[in-house]
Amino acid sequence: MDRRWGFLIGLLSAAWLLLRSGHDEPRPPETPPETAAQRCFCQVSGYLDDCTCDVETIDKFNNYRLFPRLQKLLESDYFRYYKVNLKRPCPFWKDISQCGRRDCAVKPCESDEVPDGIKSASYKYSGEAGNLIEECEQAERLGAVDESLSEETQKAVLQWTKHDDSSDNFCEADDIQSPDAEYVDLLLNPERYTGYKGPDAWRIWNVIYEENCFKPQTIKRPLNPLASSQGKGEENTFYSWLEGLCVEKRAFYRLISGLHASINVHLSARYLLQDTWLEQIWGHNVTEFQQRFDGILTEGEGPRRLKNLYFIYLIELRALSKVVPFFERPDFQLFTGNKVQDAENKMLLLEILHEIKSFPLHFDENSFFAGDKKEANKLKEDFRLHFRNISRIMDCVGCFKCRLWGKLQTQGLGTALKILFSEKLIANMPESGPSYEFQLTRQEIVSLFNAFGRISTSVKELENFRNLLQNVH
Ligand SMILES: *[C@@H]1O[C@H](CO)[C@@H](O)[C@H](O)[C@H]1NC(C)=O
Ligand SMILES: *[C@@H]1O[C@H](CO)[C@@H](O)[C@H](O)[C@H]1NC(C)=O
Repeated sequence: MDRRWGFLIGLLSAAWLLLRSGHDEPRPPETPPETAAQRCFCQVSGYLDDCTCDVETIDKFNNYRLFPRLQKLLESDYFRYYKVNLKRPCPFWKDISQCGRRDCAVKPCESDEVPDGIKSASYKYSGEAGNLIEECEQAERLGAVDESLSEETQKAVLQWTKHDDSSDNFCEADDIQSPDAEYVDLLLNPERYTGYKGPDAWRIWNVIYEENCFKPQTIKRPLNPLASSQGKGEENTFYSWLEGLCVEKRAFYRLISGLHASINVHLSARYLLQDTWLEQIWGHNVTEFQQRFDGILTEGEGPRRLKNLYFIYLIELRALSKVVPFFERPDFQLFTGNKVQDAENKMLLLEILHEIKSFPLHFDENSFFAGDKKEANKLKEDFRLHFRNISRIMDCVGCFKCRLWGKLQTQGLGTALKILFSEKLIANMPESGPSYEFQLTRQEIVSLFNAFGRISTSVKELENFRNLLQNVH
C-alpha cells in the first residue's frame, strides 16, 4: 500500500471520529480535508455499506478492464439504436414546461439510417423464434390464424405473450409499437448538460424520492437538493430513517440516488462550457461537480451520493453476471442483418460478460430477501410497483434529451432487477431451443447494457474529477 492510501485512510478514520463525536465531547485536533478532491472523495473509499466490496477494487476493474470494451460494444449498430416513444403524456400532472433549448432536443433517426435487420422484424424477442411471434401477432390482428406454426412454437408464443404481461416486468413497457415511437441513435444524442434544471427538474426527482422510495410521509427532504443549511436537523432524521429500513428498502432508495448521482456526474463531465454561433464546447466543469458532490457544500450528502453510485454499479454488475447463460445460448444473436458483424459483437459481448463474472467481489444478493418466501414475494411486488411508477414519471420530464436517457436508464435498471429476481428461471433455462420462462426483448437488452455503460462511464469520470480537483482548494 503506498503512502497516499495510508494518508487517505488516516483521513478517513479522522473523519469518522469527527462524525461520531458528540457535541460535548472534546473534538480531536481537527485536520480539515485540504483539497477539494478530498472533500468529495475522502469518505468515498474503502468498504461500501451493505456489501463487501471496496471502491478501489471497483475503480481498477471498471476503468481499465471493463470500460474500454463496453464502449466499443455500445458503439455497434445493435446497441446504438434505441426505439422510444417520447410523446407519451405525463400521467401525473398537466403543466409540463417543455424545455425549448436546442440541447434538450432529440434528433430521431431518418428511416433509412437504422439497419433493416433491426427495423424490419422490429424484433420483439431476441433469437430466431422472435420472428414468429411478430408474424403471429400480425396474423392475429388480421384475424387470421396461422396454422403453419408448429404446436411447439404456438406454445412458446403463448408463453411469451403471457410472460410479457407477467409480473416480471419492472418497467412500464414503453409502447414501441405506437406510431409515435421512433428510433434514436444514442451516439448522436449523448447524455450531457442541457440547461434543464431548476424547479421543473427538482420536481421530478422530488416526486421520485418523496412518493416512490418507501418513504414515510412525515419526513421531508429539502425540495432543492442544492439548497444549503435549510433543515440540517431534518436531513439527519432522514438518514436515521434510512438506517432503520430493512436492507431491501434501503437498497431501493440507494439505487435511485445512485442513478441520480450518475446522471449528475455526466452533466458535470459534459458541461456546455462555450456556446457561440460558431461552436459548442463540452467538457468538465469542476464547479458544477463540487456543487453536487463536495462534502461541505452539500452538508455531507455528496459523498453519500457517490457511494450510492458505486452501489448501483455493483447491482447492475451482479445482474449481468447472472444473465450470462441467456446470452451464451447458441440461438442467441445480436441480430442486425450483418452476419459477420453480428458474430463479432456476440463474441465481444460474451468476453465482457465473462470478465464481469470474474469480478471477485460481487454484491451478495443473498442478503436480499433472506426472509421467508411470502415476505420476499411481497417485497418483490412492492419493488416492482414502485419501479414501474418511476418509469412512468419519466414521461413527465420536460426535456426530451433527459427523458430519453431517463427512460433508457430506468428501463435498464428495471431489466437488471428483473434478472436478479429471475435467478432460478435463468439457471433452469435449456441450453438451446426456445426458452419459455425467461426472455429479454431487444429493448431490454439495449437498455440494460447502455444503462450499465452510463454507470461505468460515471465511475470512470470520477477518476477524471479526482485528478482535476487535486489542485483545487
Ligand atoms: C406513483 O407516483 C405518483 C405520483 O408521484 C404517486 O401519487 C403514487 O402514490 C405512486 N404510486 C406508487 C405505488 O408508488
Ligand atoms: C460551471 O458551472 C457553474 C455552475 O455550477 C457555472 O456558474 C459556471 O459558469 C460553469 N463554468 C463554465 C466555464 O461554464
